[in-house]
Amino acid sequence: MKTQVVIIGSGPAGLLLGQLLHRQGIDSVILDRVTPDYILGRIRAGVIENGFARLMREAGAAARMTAEGEVHDAVEIAVHGVYHKIDLAALTGGATVTVYGQTEITQDLMQARAAAGLPGFYGAENVRPHDMTTDHPYVTFEKDGVTHRIDCDYIAGCDGFHGVCRPSIPKHKIREYERVYPFGWLGLLADTPPVNYELIYAKSDRGFALCSKRSARRSRYYLQVPLAEKLEDWSDDRFWEELKRRLPADAAARLVTGPSLEKSIAPLRSFVAEPLQYGRMFLVGDAGHIVPPTGAKGLNLAASDVNTLYRILTKVYGQGRTDLLARYSEICLRRVWNGVRFSWWMTDMLHHFERDSMEDKIRDSELDFFLATPDRRRILAEQYVGLPYEEIE
Ligand code: FAD
Ligand code: DHB
Repeated sequence: MKTQVVIIGSGPAGLLLGQLLHRQGIDSVILDRVTPDYILGRIRAGVIENGFARLMREAGAAARMTAEGEVHDAVEIAVHGVYHKIDLAALTGGATVTVYGQTEITQDLMQARAAAGLPGFYGAENVRPHDMTTDHPYVTFEKDGVTHRIDCDYIAGCDGFHGVCRPSIPKHKIREYERVYPFGWLGLLADTPPVNYELIYAKSDRGFALCSKRSARRSRYYLQVPLAEKLEDWSDDRFWEELKRRLPADAAARLVTGPSLEKSIAPLRSFVAEPLQYGRMFLVGDAGHIVPPTGAKGLNLAASDVNTLYRILTKVYGQGRTDLLARYSEICLRRVWNGVRFSWWMTDMLHHFERDSMEDKIRDSELDFFLATPDRRRILAEQYVGLPYEEIE
């Protein structure tokens, strides 16, 4: 089999890239080791920057997001029970974010791909990229006991943090930076009305909590928990009780509880691989970098990588601009490092590390400082709504 771009990974990054390339007449084949249902069962991000929303429109997959996504012009940061509204739109000259689940985005993109009749293999085992530093890379995989080979011009490694593409790069050709945090986020999804229209990021003596949502009827809540915490020790009742204790009194009183649809613990990590390119293979999204979720940046950074690769490949195929390929990593990494820094900063300010330590006191003080005046809140707002994408010449 032959195609122009093999996309390894059918998460939001791979699917969005495939759809955008298709609209430019560039062929792709998508491979994933799991099934579509498995992918759609992973509950992850919920806040979409305007840049991502624009790409969904450009991909022709934004109809449901436009109809059902909620546009938010503010978020709340609650510190020890006191609210500080961050007026995103007022502080940034009109920018907003859209609250729409990653699961929905993935489903919309899968449907768009199916409607266009584009090829993909799910349940593909032993996927391997080959000959990335030659002009003739190819990918092999096994499916139903048969080994397949796809020859291509380029490989897009959209296979997440635990994928195969990054480990296929020789160790001496890549540098990895990492910080693992001493806590994780316990998430709960429930069909209950969200406690607030705006998201609430809450810092309390008991640790961080986040009130988010998927719609007017579906809530998504998170609690900071120690890394060693076990999911089975968290009954729904225990989760709701702990959440109430971390929220401002009015929100705790309003909170509607109910049975969980999903509960999971995600470890928190900052990670960047440099460069994000090895010959004709490009690392896109979580395959190349991870951020802790506090700033809602993981999915949005994946989208900005997609934007860069898509625009470069469009010029490569349309105008013969192969010179741009070598710029992919450098362009992506500028925005990635910014997102890594912002996510680190938000995580640092809003979580407890070592209670009553000097460092935690400094974190409290830093948060107070940045919430105190509109000019300081603007710094937070501009990054939360997302920095602009870099032009490709
Ligand atoms: P992924 O979504 O990870 O997709 C990668 C795909 O590659 C998967 O479908 C996988 O099956 C496939 N794959 C992997 N290995 C192989 C292989 N060897 N062969 C073939 N296919 C392979 N971000 C936020 O902004 N807010 C959040 O609340 C948030 N919560 C998160 C919770 C968890 C548990 C995790 C893991 C991440 C969370 N994130 C969050 C981050 C966000 O979900 C990711 O940034 C986003 O999923 C990145 O998309 P992606 O397409 O790059 O990677
Ligand atoms: C969600 C996750 C985040 O990390 C965040 O900062 C905001 C919202 C969510 O899953 O809804």
